[in-house]
Amino acid sequence: MSTTAAVTPIAPVDLAAERAALGDALYDAVRRVLDSGKYVLGPEVEALERDFARMHGCAHGVAVGTGTDALWLGLLAVGVKPCDSVVTSPFTFFASAASIALMGATVRLADVDYDTALLDVDKAEAAIDARTTAILPVHLYGQLADVRAFRALCDKRKLALLEDGAQAHGSLRDGFACGQLGDAGTFSFYVTKNLGAAGEGGMVLTQRADVAQNLRQLRDHGSPTKYVHTRIGTNSRLQALQAAILNVKLPHLERWNARRRELAARYSRNFAGLDAVAPMKLASGAVHTYHQYTVRIRGERSRDSVLAELARQQIFAGVHYPHPVHLQEAAKGWGYGPGDFPNAERLAREVLCLPVHPFLSDADVDRVSEAVRRAAGV
Ligand SMILES: Cc1ncc(COP(=O)(O)O)c(C=O)c1O
Repeated sequence: MSTTAAVTPIAPVDLAAERAALGDALYDAVRRVLDSGKYVLGPEVEALERDFARMHGCAHGVAVGTGTDALWLGLLAVGVKPCDSVVTSPFTFFASAASIALMGATVRLADVDYDTALLDVDKAEAAIDARTTAILPVHLYGQLADVRAFRALCDKRKLALLEDGAQAHGSLRDGFACGQLGDAGTFSFYVTKNLGAAGEGGMVLTQRADVAQNLRQLRDHGSPTKYVHTRIGTNSRLQALQAAILNVKLPHLERWNARRRELAARYSRNFAGLDAVAPMKLASGAVHTYHQYTVRIRGERSRDSVLAELARQQIFAGVHYPHPVHLQEAAKGWGYGPGDFPNAERLAREVLCLPVHPFLSDADVDRVSEAVRRAAGV
């Protein structure tokens, strides 16, 4: 009988390693906030808004409760009305599209590019209808969509541009960060993001003072001053504890992102020349931050069989996302069906997101790469 040697699991994130790397700083930050008695908004949130905006070359940052709130409040803040329609991607986390429906507007979908999984500019233009007032490209996996082309399209058609950068902290395209060319850009600080809170959090960045002012009111029940309400908003104010934790992590983000890029480059070298294991394409002019390192499994073996074989070897990959937006039950009333967005549907069948986080070793990447090749039969 053969014995199997114990293997170390490789997971998509390693929060314990991150905590260890930060030493006492996180605990000190939590204690500082508890002692301050200032638990909602306040100096920690203001510091995060300032430093996160500066890092992305944006004039204003407005912190909110979640990335989803950043999106739907962001749509309202740039002037989208419930009678309008907004064009977005069918291949994203459901929140991108749901945020449009949440604020009452109509969701218009356009297919993504098969090689990058990013919203296709020409298809987005074709999806614009008489009621469209905004385009919402998603910077999937840590790679920015073609923001210059979307800015030009939005200027030509007099539309607002809201960028979903929930997965794109610190990413660039042609030298621009999320929020710099758009009327606003939104971020999520959910636990597993490249910059993650110990819970939920979100941020909107913008160059426009009017949009920032709208957001500050919208996150506080449409209130410009205490107990005066000029519009309907919600309660979505970032907690000081989350901001303090994010302030400890923020100075490390660029280095962590650079390490993700090194690991991604190693994966790509390991898969070079294979058709059955095809990495997503790095767009020209992109500085990718690899929130996910994604390959398409398109040989004889299915993606799901590769996923299962990896798990058997204690390698935990992910599928972001197994169902395109337009085929979700919640999207039934949006007027789309199977076959409408072939690239999104194909990617949902093929994508496999391999572990990529700053605390992996080169040897971990080689172990995963070898396991993927074998599982894919190449
Ligand atoms: C592309 C995208 N948009 C929006 C969101 C929503 O962010 P949150 O989970 O913070 O509400 C996420 C979060 O996973 C996301 O990945």
